[in-house]
Amino acid sequence: MAVNKKRRKRSIFDSIASKKTLHKNLEFTAVEQYKLLRANLSFTLPEDVRCPIIGVTSSMRGEGKSTTAINLSYVLAESGKRVLLIDGDLRIPSVAKKMDLKSSPGLTDLLMGYESQQMSTFKSTILENWYIMPSGDLPPNPSELLGSHRMESILKIASDIFDYIIVDLPPVNVVSDALAISNLITGVIVVVREDYTEKKELEACYRQLRLSNVNVLGCVMNESESSGGTRGKYKRYSKYYKKYYTSTTHSNNG
Ligand SMILES: Nc1ncnc2c1ncn2[C@@H]1O[C@H](COP(=O)(O)OP(=O)(O)OP(=O)(O)O)[C@@H](O)[C@H]1O
Ligand SMILES: [Mg+2]
Repeated sequence: MAVNKKRRKRSIFDSIASKKTLHKNLEFTAVEQYKLLRANLSFTLPEDVRCPIIGVTSSMRGEGKSTTAINLSYVLAESGKRVLLIDGDLRIPSVAKKMDLKSSPGLTDLLMGYESQQMSTFKSTILENWYIMPSGDLPPNPSELLGSHRMESILKIASDIFDYIIVDLPPVNVVSDALAISNLITGVIVVVREDYTEKKELEACYRQLRLSNVNVLGCVMNESESSGGTRGKYKRYSKYYKKYYTSTTHSNNG
């Protein structure tokens, strides 16, 4: 009994190790890096945009897009901004899973015209100004839906309500969805994972983005160590490595 009493109260994320990479469970250094990303972003965004809509993408699967989108939207909301996080990966969505939410209702319900779906449905229980819109049921035509007029009007309505909209997107080199939505959003952040992202994939990703005239706001280096130190195969996921944010100029040279 005494043991039970002493047992630390478990947060909803404790059960899965990877949840340690998410907002409330982040290490101090990781939180600071996300705050730095938030600050750098404010310098990169066009001044005349009232509600920036920021897509988070990468070249390949598994580089940390969803993790970055969740944490960036969290630190923005924590700073007092009204923030909407949209799971725009309508093929392999993961925001709902990572946040222990139901995946439906979500974006596709709005896209299918269920206008009665109120924004308040997506209010998080974590911060009152943080709204999380899951993917909804998976559609057969994600690319068309993301670039549709319907998507445009959803973003327009949301822009009047929120200060920031963050859209978690699929990878550029795998499907065209991130490019399809590109002219509806302010710009994208490209996530690169250290010791994982291949140079040729990243080059192909930037080539695609450039060809589609996508505004690349910057690049987040995920799972990167700030200082030396060796890192074995098994240490890869044992620590939340720092994030870096590079300027648009640097990114565009990619
Ligand atoms: N900095 C990090 N340190 C440790 N683990 C991480 C880090 N970033 C992401 N991960 C883990 O790596 C896996 C992939 O991350 P995430 O789902 O964010 O990537 P993704 O790019 O969105 O993937 P997908 O392309 O499949 O959507 C997850 O298990 C996540 O918890
Ligand atoms: Mg993802």
